Amino acid sequence: MAESTHFSDTFFKHKNKVQIVYFSGTGGAARVALSFEKIFTEKGIEVVKIPLDVQEAGYQQTPAIENFVGLLVLIFPVHAFDAPAPVYEWITGIPEGKGLPCAVISVSGGGERWPNTGCRAGCIECLENKGYNPFYERMLVMPSNIFIATKEQLAVQLLKILPLKVELSIDEILSGVRIRSKKPLSANILAAFSKMEKRKAKEFGRDFEGA
Ligand SMILES: Cc1cc2nc3c(=O)[nH]c(=O)nc-3n(C[C@H](O)[C@H](O)[C@H](O)COP(=O)(O)O)c2cc1C
Repeated sequence: MAESTHFSDTFFKHKNKVQIVYFSGTGGAARVALSFEKIFTEKGIEVVKIPLDVQEAGYQQTPAIENFVGLLVLIFPVHAFDAPAPVYEWITGIPEGKGLPCAVISVSGGGERWPNTGCRAGCIECLENKGYNPFYERMLVMPSNIFIATKEQLAVQLLKILPLKVELSIDEILSGVRIRSKKPLSANILAAFSKMEKRKAKEFGRDFEGA
C-alpha cells in the first residue's frame, strides 16, 4: 500500500542535493546512474555521483554522505540474487542516516522475478539498521552479462527505453510515495548462495592482482 513520506517537502526546503552511489561491473549500472544524473539535472536538481568501481578512489576507503544531500540513490547490478560486496562495504562505512530518504535501484538481466525478487532486501535492511529511510525500490532491466546473452535487438531496445524508465522512477521518487517490495520467503536461503558468490568474487579478484 502506497503512503506519502512527504519526501519532496524535506528535499526542496532544506537539502537540495541528490547523491547517486553506484557499482557497475561491465557498465550497465553505470549507464543507469548516468541516466539518473542527467534527468535529475534536467529537473534543476544538483547531483553528486560516486562510483564504487574505481579502485583507487578515496571515497571507497572513507565512505561518506556529502553535505546538503537530501536523497541517496543507490544503484547496483544483481549478483547472485543480491547486491555486490562493494555496495555492502560502502553502506557499512557510512555514518548514521538520521532518516535520510533513499532509493535503491537494482539492475539485472533477469528482471523482477524469482529468485531476483529479494535482491535489494539485504541492502535495505543494512540501510534501515543505520537509520536511513529506504522508501523506494525498483528493478531496471539491462542486457545480461552472464550465462545467457541478451539478443542484440532486445539489448538495443533496453538501452533506448532506459531514459523513459528512469524518468518514471524519478517522478515516483520525487512524489514521495513509498514503494517497497515484500521480502520473499526464500531470501534467507538464497543469502547463503549470495554469500558464496561474494567470497568467490574476492578470490577471483585476488587471482587477477597476482597475475
Ligand atoms: C557474477 C554475476 C552474477 C550475476 N547474477 C545475476 C542474478 O542473480 N540475476 C540476474 O538477473 N542477473 C545476474 N547477473 C547479470 C547482471 O546483473 C546484469 O547483466 C547487469 O546488467 C550487469 O550490470 P553491470 O554491467 O553494471 O555490471 C550477474 C552478473 C554477474 C557478473
